[in-house]
Amino acid sequence: MSRTNRGLVKLAQDKAAVQDIPFPRLRDDYIRIRTIAVALNPADWQDLGEPYELGRPPLLIGCDFAGIVEAVGPQVTKKFSVGDRVFGGGHGTNDVQPEDGTFGQYIVTRGDTVMHKPSNLSFTDAATLPSGLVTVALGLYKHLSLPLPPAKVEGQPWLLVYGGSSATDHAYTIHRGVLETNAQQRDPECGSKIQALTGGSLTRVFDTIATPDTALICAAALAEDEPGLYVNLMGIESPRKDVKSVFFLGYTAMGEEFWFDGEKWPVDHEDFSLWTRFATIAEGLLEAKKIVPHPALVRDGGLDGIYGGMMDMKAKKISGQKLVYILGKNEAFSTASVSVLHTWAFRINVIPLLMITWTCTARLLAYFKSHTSRPQD
Ligand SMILES: NC(=O)c1ccc[n+]([C@@H]2O[C@H](COP(=O)([O-])OP(=O)(O)OC[C@H]3O[C@@H](n4cnc5c(N)ncnc54)[C@H](OP(=O)(O)O)[C@@H]3O)[C@@H](O)[C@H]2O)c1
Repeated sequence: MSRTNRGLVKLAQDKAAVQDIPFPRLRDDYIRIRTIAVALNPADWQDLGEPYELGRPPLLIGCDFAGIVEAVGPQVTKKFSVGDRVFGGGHGTNDVQPEDGTFGQYIVTRGDTVMHKPSNLSFTDAATLPSGLVTVALGLYKHLSLPLPPAKVEGQPWLLVYGGSSATDHAYTIHRGVLETNAQQRDPECGSKIQALTGGSLTRVFDTIATPDTALICAAALAEDEPGLYVNLMGIESPRKDVKSVFFLGYTAMGEEFWFDGEKWPVDHEDFSLWTRFATIAEGLLEAKKIVPHPALVRDGGLDGIYGGMMDMKAKKISGQKLVYILGKNEAFSTASVSVLHTWAFRINVIPLLMITWTCTARLLAYFKSHTSRPQD
C-alpha cells in the first residue's frame, strides 16, 4: 500500500503550494525521516524567486528539519536506528533531486550529514541549527582555516564575523566568542571603528550578510598593510584589490552535484567530509551547551503556514529570530514503531514462516480430505 505524504513545493517562479507529494524513495546512503519541526532560511524564499521552467516536477522547499528516523539506507555509515530523534539539513528547491527539501511530512536526506538530537534540545530548537552549522563549518574550518574544535586557535588573531543577528553569525559567536562587538553594524563608520578597535591588525572577515554595503564596511575594517581575506555568503567581491574574496555555498556539504544560478557545482567530497566531521563535533558541543540555538519563533499553521512565514522573511518582518513550524507529533507510538515491527518481522524471517505454515495447512487439509468418508463409487 503506498503511503501518503504532503509538502510545500515550488511550482513556478515565485509560486508555491502545499500538495500531495510522492512518499520519498530511500536512496542507499540516505535516511527517511518523519518530520517534527522545520525552520525557515532566506534561501527558501530566495530560491523560490529563481527562474523555473514550467512543466518540470515540483521541487520540495526547505533546508532545515528535526524529526524521527523512519528508515536507514544500507550505505549510511553513521549509526542510526529507526526511532532515533535527529536533526539536519536538506538541499531544498533542488532541480537535480526534487524531493530533497525538508518542508514535507516525510523527507529524505543524506544519512551521514544528520545529527543525533541531544536530549537537552527540543525539536523546535534543533530545527533552527543545521544551516547555520553547515555555514560555520565550511566558512570557518575550510575557508578561514580555523582548526576544528576542540583544537584552539594559536595566538589571538582577530576575526570579524559580520552580521550580529543572523543565524550564521549567532551560531559562530556563541561557539568561539572571538570578536563580539556592539559596534553598530548599520553605522557607516562601523568599519573604521572596528579597524581602530583591532589596532589595524584584522586580516580575516566572515561576512554573513554580504551585500555591497556590508562589503564596504568589512573592507574598511581590514588591516591596510596586510593581505586580507573576505569570505562571504552571497558572491560579493571586496571593493579592495588587495583583499581576496571567497564565496561558497553550504549546499556543497551534502556531497552531491547541483545547479545554482545556471552553473553546475560538482560533487565536493572534501566539503562533505568536513561537514560530517563537524556535525558529530556539533552534537557534543550542543550537549555541553557550548552552542546555544538561535532564538526560535514557533508559529502555528504547520505546512500551510510556512509560505506566509517565507513572505514575512522576504519582507524583513523577522529580526533576530528563526521562524519554526511544527509538522508532526512527537508521539511514542508512531510510524517509527510500525517500522521497528516491520524490521523485526523480516529479521525473524517471517516469509519462510508463512510458507511453512501454508505448507502444513495444505498437507493437513489433504490428510483430512483423504480420510473423510466419501460416497462409495
Ligand atoms: N552561501 C551560503 O551557503 C549561505 C548560507 C547561509 C546563508 N546565506 C545567505 O546569507 C544571508 C543571511 O542568512 P541568515 O540565514 O544568516 O539570515 P537571517 O538569520 O535571516 O539573518 C539575517 C539578519 O541579517 C541582518 N542584516 C540584514 N542586513 C544587514 C546589514 N546591512 N548589516 C548587518 N546586519 C544585517 C538582519 O538583522 P536585523 O534583524 O537587525 O535587520 C537579519 O536579522 C542570506 O542572504 C542567506 O541566503 C548563504
